Formats: sequence, C-alpha cells, structure tokens
Amino acid sequence: MPGCTDELWPLLLAIAQMPRNGSVAPGALAGVSWGAGQGWALQGRWDTPAQDLFALHKPLLDARRDGGVWVIGQLGQSLDGCVATRSGDSCFINGPETLTHLHRLRALSDAVIVGAGTVACDNPRLTTRHVSGPHPTRVLLDPTLRLAPLVSSAHVFNDGQAPTLWLCDAALREQAVARAGALRVLAVPGLLGEGGVLQLERAVAALRSRGLTRLFVEGGGVTVSRFLVRRCLDRLHLAVAPLLIGDGRPGLRFDGAERLADCLRPGCRVYRLGSDQLWDLDLRVPN
Ligand SMILES: NC(=O)c1ccc[n+]([C@@H]2O[C@H](COP(=O)([O-])OP(=O)(O)OC[C@H]3O[C@@H](n4cnc5c(N)ncnc54)[C@H](OP(=O)(O)O)[C@@H]3O)[C@@H](O)[C@H]2O)c1
Repeated sequence: MPGCTDELWPLLLAIAQMPRNGSVAPGALAGVSWGAGQGWALQGRWDTPAQDLFALHKPLLDARRDGGVWVIGQLGQSLDGCVATRSGDSCFINGPETLTHLHRLRALSDAVIVGAGTVACDNPRLTTRHVSGPHPTRVLLDPTLRLAPLVSSAHVFNDGQAPTLWLCDAALREQAVARAGALRVLAVPGLLGEGGVLQLERAVAALRSRGLTRLFVEGGGVTVSRFLVRRCLDRLHLAVAPLLIGDGRPGLRFDGAERLADCLRPGCRVYRLGSDQLWDLDLRVPN
C-alpha cells in the first residue's frame, strides 16, 4: 500500500521543526530524504494526494537552510477577487480542504501574521485546531495601535493558546506595553516610514531577531498587498473559491504597471483543494 497524507503530515511537521542551519544527517527521517542540491524528496511509494501535499509544501520545507527569513502569504478569495463581503464577513469563502491547508501552513510556520483589520473583524484564534502540529506565534501587525480597545477582549490576547506579539512602531512602545505587557509587544523602530508607508523589512528583521524565520502572512488583503509591494514575500497562495461576492473587501490591491509587459507574472502551479483552486505563486522567480 502506498503511503497517504495522514502518514506524510507528521513527516512534514518533523522536517519543519528541524534546525534550519547546517546539513541534514542521511536517513534522518524514514520516507523522505534530503539532498544538498535538490532539497527534500519522497522515498518509497506514496499515493497521489500525498505526492501533491509534498509538492505543495516542498518550497517551504527546503527554504532558507542558512537561517534566513522566508515569507509566505495567503488569501482565500472569490472568483472576483474579494476576501470578504463589504460588511467584513469572510467565514467561509473557501471550503473545508482550504481551511485544513490554512491550518497546515500555520503549523509549519514559526509565526502567523495578520493585520489589525482582520483581528477587529474576525477575532481569530490563529491556532492549528484543525490539524496536528504546534501553534505558531501570533503576530498582530498594528503600527498605530488600532487594536488598543480590543486588548481585553480579543482571543489572541486572552486565550493563552500561543504566544502573541503586538507589532507596532517603536514610538508607541510605552502605550502598548501599558496595555498588553512588555512580553507581548514588539516595537519596531522606523516601522512607520515617511507618509505612513510601512517599512515591513524592519518588521521581518525584528521577527528574525526573535528566532522567527518562517513567516506566514495570513491576511487580510491590505496586509498581504503591503508585503507584496515591499517585496517581502517569497511565495503567495491564492485559494480561489467558486463564488462571486461583488462589492466586497478586496484581496490584492497595489499600484499596477501601465503596460501588461511590465506586470508581475510569477511562476505558478495550481492545486485542487476540494471545490477551490489553489494558485501557488513563486515571487522570487523573475518575470
Ligand atoms: N479570505 C481571507 O483569506 C482573509 C484573511 C484574513 C482576513 N480576511 C478578511 O479581510 C478583512 C480585513 O482585511 P483588510 O485587508 O481590511 O485589513 P488587514 O490587512 O487585516 O489590516 C490592515 C487594515 O486594517 C485597518 N484597520 C486597523 N484597525 C482596524 C480596526 N480596528 N477596524 C477596522 N479596520 C482596521 C488598517 O487601517 P489603517 O492602515 O488606517 O490603520 C489597515 O488598512 C476582514 O473582513 C477579514 O474577515 C480574509
């Protein structure tokens, strides 16, 4: 009998938890192998869903064995490019297979990052409750402390399920610490740049200095777009559901090029997740 996804998933978790610097001992894990040139590979017989699961996550598993940062973004969106209705309802655009995928990405990552708008709208937990695997550190990107009124009520500040970091500009550090305590504040000097433009490379560097090097930007549209524009994403997963929302909250939005020839045309692969299509975009491959 070939191996299945239930057998492969613990191996992917084990790979994700290995130290990310130095080489991997031969035969470290049965069922997979590591080669310096080609990264991780499956060994033996695996069924097609397991092969697809491995192929989908291989870039994440192979990435940055030099201890550098690797960032993946995701958006679950309708066919017409919305991540929520105009009132902010986003549960659930995608089907159960995509929800499982989302929780797998959390489990394979050191930190999950969301924008303040997502916390305000959804009150998410950002845990891995639909799969086995560790909860990531929860990072709330909130340069100007828009979430201050929610510190006493939001799940991420109060459920004790996983560490939470409230990431703000260093100018607001004292205010943030007074609200949430020093352990839960990551105050980044110069995060708010000229004209209010977020210097996200500084946020990424600050997370790296905390040992958080595999980062998952889960939403919403504004936040993922900002990471894209600052060229802070290595990869982007767009899970497109067969749904038309119309005048909803947009997914990716950024100043586009005038000419199609100058538009981003990333390398991509497409996977089926139930009734959704997952577009896996490689943003490090040049046009
Ligand atoms: N389908 C998906 O994959 C997915 C994933 C995550 C979230 N969502 C949905 O996306 C929506 C949120 O995404 P988003 O792109 O609007 O924002 P976001 O990326 O989560 O957060 C950034 C934006 O939120 C604004 N914001 C900050 N605090 C806020 C508050 N207290 N109330 C309202 N807005 C606040 C910020 O405004 P300033 O810059 O002015 O501070 C900023 O524009 C929600 O409806 C959520 O349900 C969908």
